[in-house]
Amino acid sequence: MVLKKGKIISIISSKNGNGASFVSVNLSICLAAFKKTVLLDTEADFSSIMLNLEIDKAAQKLLGAELDPAVFVSLLPLHSSGLYCATADYREKEVVDVFTEVLRSNFENIVFDAGTPEKHMANIIEASSLVYLVVTPDLISLKAAEKALSKLAEFHINLDKVRIIVNKYHPALGLDEKTIRKILGREIAATIPFEIEASVSVNNGKPIVMSEPNSLISLAIKDLAKLVEGSKEISMEFEVPGETSKYIINEIGIKEKIHLRVVKVLSGMNIDIESFVDLKKREEFKVIVEKTIEELFATEVSEPKCKAAREKLMKEILQEVLGLGPLEDLLSDSDISEIMVNNKDQVYVERKGKLTLSGKKFLSDKQLIACIERIVAPIGRRIDESVPMVDARLLDGSRVHAIIPPLALKGPSLTIRKFSKERLLVDDLIKFGTLSPAAVEFLKLCVLSRKNIVISGGTGSGKTTLLNVISSFIPKDERIITIEDSAELNLPQEHVVTLETRPPNIEGRGAVTIRDLVKNTLRMRPDRIVVGECRGGEALDMLQAMNTGHDGSITTLHSNSPRDTLARLETMVLMSGMELPLKAIREQVSSAVDLIVHQERFKDGTRKITHITEVAGMEGDIITTQDIFVFKQTESSNRDFISGQLLPSGIIPSFTDELLLNEKCLDRRIFAL
Ligand SMILES: Nc1ncnc2c1ncn2[C@@H]1O[C@H](COP(=O)(O)OP(=O)(O)OP(=O)(O)O)[C@@H](O)[C@H]1O
Ligand SMILES: [Mg+2]
Repeated sequence: MVLKKGKIISIISSKNGNGASFVSVNLSICLAAFKKTVLLDTEADFSSIMLNLEIDKAAQKLLGAELDPAVFVSLLPLHSSGLYCATADYREKEVVDVFTEVLRSNFENIVFDAGTPEKHMANIIEASSLVYLVVTPDLISLKAAEKALSKLAEFHINLDKVRIIVNKYHPALGLDEKTIRKILGREIAATIPFEIEASVSVNNGKPIVMSEPNSLISLAIKDLAKLVEGSKEISMEFEVPGETSKYIINEIGIKEKIHLRVVKVLSGMNIDIESFVDLKKREEFKVIVEKTIEELFATEVSEPKCKAAREKLMKEILQEVLGLGPLEDLLSDSDISEIMVNNKDQVYVERKGKLTLSGKKFLSDKQLIACIERIVAPIGRRIDESVPMVDARLLDGSRVHAIIPPLALKGPSLTIRKFSKERLLVDDLIKFGTLSPAAVEFLKLCVLSRKNIVISGGTGSGKTTLLNVISSFIPKDERIITIEDSAELNLPQEHVVTLETRPPNIEGRGAVTIRDLVKNTLRMRPDRIVVGECRGGEALDMLQAMNTGHDGSITTLHSNSPRDTLARLETMVLMSGMELPLKAIREQVSSAVDLIVHQERFKDGTRKITHITEVAGMEGDIITTQDIFVFKQTESSNRDFISGQLLPSGIIPSFTDELLLNEKCLDRRIFAL
């Protein structure tokens, strides 16, 4: 996506004292009311006074530091109106170009308070979509204006886009708009009257459009802002600063400001809070951070005034500085089952099977990475450019996957599968319509009769949950060994050995894979092997185990249909590096796997078993299968509600007699249509 670049509006003055900075400051505030706007000043002294804000060149100094643009923006002073301010040395051409470009890619409007035009500003004035020349209604100013215009022509600036703003207008001065238009030979965009309130507002450090929103000056400047925006519709009702003003309180802005100050205070104490990961020290730092924020509220940050809003802000900043930031609220919301951070600005959540944008955002990529580090560091894992991908677990057991640049192109990304405290049990799945009581009966018998089962489905389709439920049918007196990448299974039986893989250490050594564990398990005298998910070469070891006395094993794999499950198994066996002919692989698969249980997540957010399929054998080179139960959708289904049933296909599984042989009573009627 090509980002639209911000619009530059240059305000030039014919001579000092015309009020170009006054116009720039107030116009920018009006524009900031509905678009992200920055005021760029060559000499920030005047705007500093008018806005009562310290505007320094700190941001310019950081230009070469390859900062994330959002971080760069967060370093800019922010006025309570939501207007950002910047200043830079316009005598250095390099700075002019780079600085302006960064601003343009982060702001929709850049109001450039140029003062009297100078050669080194030519580029930025030329790049402006609007150029206003501020004059006062006196002949000296108008003479100077003519000179300014010829200077602009000398700098090869297209004079067609130059419009006039007449400031400090008063009829008693004897020069009316018509005469001014005639003298300068161009249109007048705005006439701002002379009013004593202008100087009062400057002296008070409160811009007139905010302090005297209904003064004639404010009305004229608001009209000018509408002209700049090309809109007559936008209502710009400025209120006197206060709790309810929709323009004055820019909570995000204040939060960023306090956050930055906290970071500054702590870095003064040699605490690099942004990369702080030691959760034990959290409590210690919490006290310091709270104190710093309270001090800021008592001194320079006056908004918000109400206690509850301050407490909310304090909580959010504490979470951001010391915890998992915007994720904290999502983690504590028990309705949310999955959190997906696509990038710092886009956090999706899953509630009752449906995905929605949460509206939460991270301040910067740096904050997001710090958050990832806070999750992975306590369990001895790390993430950086050389290890840009990591799997981890939160203390409550939630599964975390993070990936950062250079692998993630749009910035760090994070996925959290929340650990659900209430494990779903077989009755829950029946209640949700995931499977039918008859299917449960059948699956139970298959487990008791030591059938090898592969559970398949798409990502998040509920494979692990179903594996947990199906494994719970294993008799209590059997020795179960579970193998997972990150332990998610939670079996009710007592005789369970839980194994988990290990990633390589910092030197890239010591990794223990699922495959290593499967091989090792064979020496641990298991009755059943339950593998959380087969993704590669371990499939071969798993099939061999299933074929050599460890029947009754269960695993899951990612696939789109029961047929696809077989194809994936073949591919995985090939991944083991054993050069087996395809036919031999298929024979292994068909003799090892008895049943495929395929589950899907539907558009309405529900998860349902769509197929229970028997792997029947081989016909020539092809594995044959037959569906025993299939989900039949009814016609009344729509996007928001899928109705239907998991029904028997009428085919009786070929191993039915075996099930009966084992004296497990099976009512054959469950297979009848
Ligand atoms: N039958 C079901 N009905 C409703 N929700 C379910 C069902 N099965 C699982 N869930 C929920 O769906 C989410 C994903 O489930 P699970 O972890 O089992 O999926 P998965 O297929 O193993 O995912 P992955 O491919 O990421 O390993 C969990 O929040 C779980 O509680
Ligand atoms: Mg899973």
